[in-house]
Amino acid sequence: MTMIQDILALKKERQATILAHNYQIPEVQDVADLVGDSLELSRAAARLDAKVIIFCGVDFMAETAAILSPQKKVVLPEKGAWCPMAHMITPEQLCDLKIIHPEAAVVCYVNSTAEIKAESDVCCTSANGVQVVNSLSEKEVIFVPDRNLAAYVARHTDKKIIPWNGYCYVHDHLTAEEVQAARAEHPRAEVLVHPECRPEVIDQADFTYSTAGMGKHAKASSAKEFIIGTEVGMIYRLKKENPEKEFYPLSKNAICQNMKKTDLSKVLRALQTLQPQVTVPEEIAVKARLSIERMLAVKI
Ligand code: 13P
Ligand code: SF4
Repeated sequence: MTMIQDILALKKERQATILAHNYQIPEVQDVADLVGDSLELSRAAARLDAKVIIFCGVDFMAETAAILSPQKKVVLPEKGAWCPMAHMITPEQLCDLKIIHPEAAVVCYVNSTAEIKAESDVCCTSANGVQVVNSLSEKEVIFVPDRNLAAYVARHTDKKIIPWNGYCYVHDHLTAEEVQAARAEHPRAEVLVHPECRPEVIDQADFTYSTAGMGKHAKASSAKEFIIGTEVGMIYRLKKENPEKEFYPLSKNAICQNMKKTDLSKVLRALQTLQPQVTVPEEIAVKARLSIERMLAVKI
């Protein structure tokens, strides 16, 4: 049997579901039951009736699934797959910020630790940040940890946004000059960028979307060529779904090292051993669950 056949057979035997983020390597995307952005994967984790979730992504995503489904075993095939941005703020730093701004609501990007979610009023993803912030009654909003997503949201709301200075190294490295150079090379292409990019990059783009939003736009658009300003893993999915269209990465260097650590051998080992399992202490999970559930209740 091939490794893929082993994975599929064991997945059935274990009553497992494989979830994969859009930045995973092609082979992993191809064995997954669902490939999606952070919001789609959170929704799936909440509604799935599988006994086991094999989460091919990074730490905060598996944690979110474990918080939403404490009765399921959530396994992150690669223990070292963590998101640096999620660890750029500590609960102590967030508590200090809350003391300085006692009237403000706290919104945390889902790219955050369970402890930060537990200290927040509501979570958001890159797909629903604006709607989540606009759904709040408070006029001031502490927004952590991504300064770029905070700046993007601030442009689309009347509320005062108090940002934290975190960032995603993959998106923060993309430059306005790279957009100009890519446009010069592909003048007919539409430029789609992620809201984790810097404001000056977003200013140069045609559209700003989460990774799932990019997928929907690429299908619906009459354009035949696209410059994609996000992690390069997204290109595989876009090409697979739109074989007649061309997709160019804004930068070939936009690689999230930790997203690439998961491969088929680790997925197979995860199914064999059901390790490494991700769990969140119940006293943190109870509070973090409220933040995530409030987010899931916001209509977009
Ligand atoms: P989305 O897929 O939710 O747009 O998020 C991108 C990301 O950086 C996840 O780590
Ligand atoms: Fe974190 Fe950026 Fe990697 Fe997403 S792409 S997991 S935000 S480092």
